[in-house]
Amino acid sequence: MELLKGKTGIVLGVANHRSLAWHIASACSRSGARLILTYQNDRLGENVRELAKDLPSAMTFPCDVTADADLAALAHFIGESAGRLDFLVHSLAWARREELEGEFLATSREGYREAHDVSAYSLVALARLARPFLQAGGGGSILALTFHGSQRVFPGYNVMGTAKASLEAAVRYLAYDLGPDNVRVNALSPGPVRTLAASGVKGLVRMLDLYRQRAPLRRAPDPAEIADAALFLLSDMGRGVTGEVLYVDGGYHLTGV
Ligand SMILES: NC(=O)c1ccc[n+]([C@@H]2O[C@H](COP(=O)([O-])OP(=O)(O)OC[C@H]3O[C@@H](n4cnc5c(N)ncnc54)[C@H](O)[C@@H]3O)[C@@H](O)[C@H]2O)c1
Repeated sequence: MELLKGKTGIVLGVANHRSLAWHIASACSRSGARLILTYQNDRLGENVRELAKDLPSAMTFPCDVTADADLAALAHFIGESAGRLDFLVHSLAWARREELEGEFLATSREGYREAHDVSAYSLVALARLARPFLQAGGGGSILALTFHGSQRVFPGYNVMGTAKASLEAAVRYLAYDLGPDNVRVNALSPGPVRTLAASGVKGLVRMLDLYRQRAPLRRAPDPAEIADAALFLLSDMGRGVTGEVLYVDGGYHLTGV
């Protein structure tokens, strides 16, 4: 089904073929979307440009979301290359490795600031950047990736838990601001998947085991399931949904013991 036929979108956060952003971008492309993929730095750029060859007519562009100059250059690129946008996928997060072990209590001021800048504030900056391009297309959909560590304690997730809580609140405030423009803003909250970012979180293997044992569906999500949920929220199928956090975690979040 070509759910995104005729639509143009930007996907931020592809690092390699395991990235959730890559699974989502591939699904969007198969569904008919024209894509811009961004990459964080030159080191990742070569890989992302190589991957993008598999997606018909995908463009690539560098963007470190902490650099205002990169964001301005990205806005210029979107204007020149596409002129309008129908969707934006924010699939990125980062915290210093030393903040993702031991006690949350030990979080440094700089570690807290950086994690929130990259992982939460960037959604606000990107939504503002994208707004005129989404308006030009008559509206659209913004999607961020979050994790249940925003609501419950996952030992070691630490400062990323507070950053995801901030991200989820930003989703609601942005949904309120952009709703009159017919722009929807939502988040997906997947269970654990082995990726580069996830490898920085202590206890990933144990977490995967727990999901297999306790989630009602008795499994951690498959990346394809996450990509399908993204398609729902990015396409007109999700046209009545905004400000929402949709769990794709086999139901794990509803369990007590
Ligand atoms: N893998 C999981 O288990 C899981 C579960 C729930 C939510 N998520 C979320 O999914 C999203 C994608 O993560 P992933 O698991 O695919 O890992 P990943 O490592 O493949 O993706 C993380 C991306 O963030 C990008 N990034 C980091 N700092 C950046 C910066 N300053 N500017 C631009 N890009 C930057 C990296 O380049 C990378 O592409 C993240 O928000 C993550 O928190 C992941």
